[in-house]
Amino acid sequence: MDIIIRDNYEEMSKYAAGVIAGFVRKKPDCVLGLATGSTPIGTYRELIRMHKEEGLDFSGVRTFNLDEYLGIGMDLSKPYNEDQSYARFMYEELLRHINIKEGNVCIPDGMTKDPEKFCLWYEEEIRKAGGIDLQLLGIGGDGHWAFNEPGSSLASRTRVQALAKQTLDDNYELFYKNAGVSREEMPHFAITMGIGTILETRNILMMASGIKKADVVAKALEGPVTSQITASAIQLHPGGITVVLDRDAASRLANTDHYMHMEKLKEQYRL
Ligand code: GLP
Repeated sequence: MDIIIRDNYEEMSKYAAGVIAGFVRKKPDCVLGLATGSTPIGTYRELIRMHKEEGLDFSGVRTFNLDEYLGIGMDLSKPYNEDQSYARFMYEELLRHINIKEGNVCIPDGMTKDPEKFCLWYEEEIRKAGGIDLQLLGIGGDGHWAFNEPGSSLASRTRVQALAKQTLDDNYELFYKNAGVSREEMPHFAITMGIGTILETRNILMMASGIKKADVVAKALEGPVTSQITASAIQLHPGGITVVLDRDAASRLANTDHYMHMEKLKEQYRL
């Protein structure tokens, strides 16, 4: 596991975008797993810049998103701040600014009439695409990956998940309150890739920023592997793992010196 610590959000975002761009350049038809949340916004901005200024080409890239709220779907007739779907987030923050083909984008359908059947279909689509080459991940306040709330099986697959109280609180403060949606009206369920699904991706790029994430990042990276902190499953991933943190999110890690030493040595080795 490569743990990279950068001084601030901007540097963290640039590093993460560099990793993603590296995959796209090396394999122009790669399959990317994408994430929502405030954490990857800077990374997406940098990717947009690379596309516009450096010609980073997404025309062959396929994407799968981690999750979507159940019961809401993208509605382009609404202004962005009134549309809380993850599909709209992806469209506004990345997809409409790059040259990705619409048919190559796959986001769980929150409006599906048959969620269980949809989840099976989603898993099958990932399989048919040849699996995910690089999965981008944040971490929730309760240590979740995607919407795999505490207690989710570490072997779980794409499914409907009830949202934990802390996730509802976090999301209410971040989005729904400002949009004038009451706590009762906000979605309480989501479709999410499972931890087992995420562990099958070939490479993982996890990001976290800010002091609010410091405890949960330390638990996920240095604590025991536990379904109570589903992001701790990162320790079980067999492929390439890169974790990019800003200094605040890394501030409760016990082995920071070791991670910095390893990063330096690996850079020398690459030379
Ligand atoms: C939601 C998403 C997660 C994301 C988390 C953290 O719960 N389902 O995929 O990692 O939010 O969001 P933020 O980056 O805003 O802290």
